[in-house]
Amino acid sequence: MDERIISANLMMDDQAVELSLRPRYLAEYIGQSRVKENLKVYIEAAKLRKEALDHVLLYGPPGLGKTTLSNIIANELGVNLRTTSGPAIERAGDLAAILTNLQEGDVLFIDEIHRLHRTVEEVLYPAMEDFALDIMIGKGPSARSVRLDLPPFTLIGATTRAGLLSAPLRDRFGVMSRLEFYTVPELAYIVSRAADILEVEMVGEAAEEIALRSRGTPRIANRLLKRVRDFAQVRGDGIITNQLASSALELIQVDPRGLDQIDHKMLQAMITSFRGGPVGLDTIAATIGEEGQTIEDVYEPYLMQIGFLQRTPRGRVVTPKAYRHLGLPVPGEASGSDETGG
Ligand SMILES: Nc1ncnc2c1ncn2[C@@H]1O[C@H](COP(=O)(O)OP(=O)(O)OP(=O)(O)O)[C@@H](O)[C@H]1O
Ligand SMILES: [Mg+2]
Repeated sequence: MDERIISANLMMDDQAVELSLRPRYLAEYIGQSRVKENLKVYIEAAKLRKEALDHVLLYGPPGLGKTTLSNIIANELGVNLRTTSGPAIERAGDLAAILTNLQEGDVLFIDEIHRLHRTVEEVLYPAMEDFALDIMIGKGPSARSVRLDLPPFTLIGATTRAGLLSAPLRDRFGVMSRLEFYTVPELAYIVSRAADILEVEMVGEAAEEIALRSRGTPRIANRLLKRVRDFAQVRGDGIITNQLASSALELIQVDPRGLDQIDHKMLQAMITSFRGGPVGLDTIAATIGEEGQTIEDVYEPYLMQIGFLQRTPRGRVVTPKAYRHLGLPVPGEASGSDETGG
């Protein structure tokens, strides 16, 4: 399990707090306005027609609120939510059992849907398309297929890797929503809301200070808030000020843009050993001793989002913006002539 404080992945001690901080209705769900506006219309329409909502695919980096949003959709529809995940459904029969237990209009949430087994996925096709289950009865030449009706339901699939979904599965979703990284004001709002719920006092621009370092991710924002709260209680008077927030975050080595030692190590390695790139993913991985997959899923998306890293056909490139952030001279840029530049 990865233990980076700025990891977007769920960690053990996040779980209890996430439950209390998780918004329950669309009105409490901050940001993602495009996704939210669309869903609002579809939910309203489904309710008016008294039909099940179309199947929804939610995709995007970890910690941006896919699970939260699926809970909200079920709440807004006023239906039951049944939660499972791709790797948890081992056999086709397991999925059949889940499907036959659904009630009309229910939401079935399948997390990590890209990890469904092939045989299980095939059960899903007729279920999604015709609300039907095809069951084989008997064996050998006398075997025959029987079709069972299912109640109309809504499948919500969540994935961090939409690209790994098979085309037939992807095509069966009526709604596909991509969640985006959050802006600093949105994250600051999320932090303030969380502070209220946790009953910690926060003054000045402390929420922005935390938001700036949260890598566009609510899960990280909430986690940093908890760490800062610890510092406020032990080192201060329990009140989170700007100053306290920034010095606490410095102590836990999250820099002003939310980069930690591993981001630094990666950028530095690319700069010192490869003159800033282009350098291939596998080479970076080998140089810093991380897995290429982890770099691609976890570190890179945010570094690209803030314009520190670029992906080119020939490999990854460190941008001038990143050099300046690290306090290094930008290659090819006149140095010394312009002391105030950058
Ligand atoms: N729009 C939002 N407004 C306020 N808080 C949010 C929002 N989205 C997420 N959060 C907070 O972030 C936490 C993490 O969100 P969530 O578990 O839904 O992410 P996820 O996308 O499902 O992540 P993963 O890919 O790891 O499953 C939630 O518990 C919630 O407290
Ligand atoms: Mg989730």
